[in-house]
Amino acid sequence: MSENEVLLEIENLSVKVENKKLLQDIDLIIRKGEVHIIFGPNGSGKSTLVNTIMGLPDYEVTSGDIKFKGKSILNMNLTKRARLGIGLAYQLPPIVEGVPLDAFLKSIKKNDKSLDEMASQAHLKDYLTREVNVGFSGGERKRSELLQLLAQSPQLVMFDEPDSGVDLDNINLIVEIMGKLLQKDKTIRNRENSGIIVTHSGVILKQLHVNEGYVMVDGRLVCSGPPLDIFDQIKSHGFDKCIREARKNKKSKLTPG
Ligand SMILES: Nc1ncnc2c1ncn2[C@@H]1O[C@H](COP(=O)(O)OP(=O)(O)OP(=O)(O)O)[C@@H](O)[C@H]1O
Ligand SMILES: [Mg+2]
Repeated sequence: MSENEVLLEIENLSVKVENKKLLQDIDLIIRKGEVHIIFGPNGSGKSTLVNTIMGLPDYEVTSGDIKFKGKSILNMNLTKRARLGIGLAYQLPPIVEGVPLDAFLKSIKKNDKSLDEMASQAHLKDYLTREVNVGFSGGERKRSELLQLLAQSPQLVMFDEPDSGVDLDNINLIVEIMGKLLQKDKTIRNRENSGIIVTHSGVILKQLHVNEGYVMVDGRLVCSGPPLDIFDQIKSHGFDKCIREARKNKKSKLTPG
């Protein structure tokens, strides 16, 4: 692990939505330049975690803190967090009727690259005048999410299943853009940006260098370790070992000492 400055620090975070507990006692530290990956069964809380970090409404933090560059962001709304340098490619990218993609990109753009140049990278140059994601195919929406991140240039870049529903050719393109956003060409010491990737597949893992892996089970982050080992274990044995670890954590929390 690098000795770089801490970018994101999550301490003892618990979250509920409409009185339903979705995340429990999450601890996570990500230093500048690091990329962390989260696996886990459907409905275990992976999207809830990245949505909570991004500041989507409805997610109520009931304990703990989220610090970005040393300062709590809990009292900041989504727009403030985005301006601060936090970005998310959504698992289910929203459709924004009435807003052309180029106008939207201009409103969030934080670098000196041209829209054409960024849109070409995402193979979406002909889509700039269309309304955001309206009529886009599933794969096009995923690329549109990454194009928005290219424009926003966030320092903490979160990807929620960027590879789901994407064909093999486009996965290579998506991984290439993710590498750009995560400053893959720089050495880890010189990187300013960090990432959180949520995925069910090993495709990204094999092409991007990822520092740490976890499995989310029942709203808890368990089974942390080298990402490739974790992925191999899931491939061979499913989530069983991590489910047992999550249940053990839950028990020890209920009966302290
Ligand atoms: N706004 C909400 N209201 C009620 N329940 C919610 C809400 N948001 C999430 N949940 C529930 O929280 C649980 C965790 O959902 P989440 O989307 O975080 O899972 P996930 O790990 O991302 O799953 P997947 O792999 O299917 O994307 C699910 O049971 C989901 O139905
Ligand atoms: Mg999800």
